[in-house]
Amino acid sequence: MRDRSPAGEELWTARLTLRRPTEADVDAIFAIHSDPGTCLHNPSDTLARPGEAEELYQCWDDQWNKYGYGYWVVRRRDSAQQLGFCGIKPMELNGMKVLNLFYRFATSAWGQGYAGEAATTVTAWAIRHVPDLPLVARVRPANIASQRVALRAGLSRAEHFDGVGCDGLDWIYAVNLPN
Ligand SMILES: CC(C)(COP(=O)(O)OP(=O)(O)OC[C@H]1O[C@@H](n2cnc3c(N)ncnc32)[C@H](O)[C@@H]1OP(=O)(O)O)[C@@H](O)C(=O)NCCC(=O)NCCS
Repeated sequence: MRDRSPAGEELWTARLTLRRPTEADVDAIFAIHSDPGTCLHNPSDTLARPGEAEELYQCWDDQWNKYGYGYWVVRRRDSAQQLGFCGIKPMELNGMKVLNLFYRFATSAWGQGYAGEAATTVTAWAIRHVPDLPLVARVRPANIASQRVALRAGLSRAEHFDGVGCDGLDWIYAVNLPN
């Protein structure tokens, strides 16, 4: 059941717009998720066929319909080009309901602070609009850039939640944990 307003379908930062994905983003979903570089640390996320991108888009869209939030497409304010994706997904971690923070950007967009900027805005949105759920990022130990993005967004290391995920050991970063 949808329990959030559609107000979050478009977010703005100093340089970026974050918008709910549409069918028109399926090609970008495939391009970014079929690049081995973007899935180096999380090979289970790799897409091999365009049809898988269509299925992934449908999953993302279903989540938007159900919860009123999800993954956003990130673009520069002055460009239609998709830089990447950043957003939140409800899941369970060690039996606790949480929001998972996700970000994946095209390699051509790396190193310009876009991921940190987007993740900071998404984190603020999640804390404000879904305050009842902790926000976590599950990061592979060798994925230094992702760890930096999590810290920049305001999450902190939560070693006691570390565990094995789809691709091996995940380090957990979190914010808004219950006391
Ligand atoms: C993680 C990812 C989104 C970061 O994108 P980005 O464009 O490099 O991010 P930013 O430009 O905002 O930089 C993030 C930080 O990482 C640092 N960084 C980037 N690449 C790095 C590297 N190879 N080694 C060490 N630090 C690195 C930057 O200096 C910056 O640090 P700062 O916040 O202290 O200034 C990008 O690498 C990516 O899409 N990776 C593939 C998908 C992925 O791994 N997602 C996370 C799954 S948990």
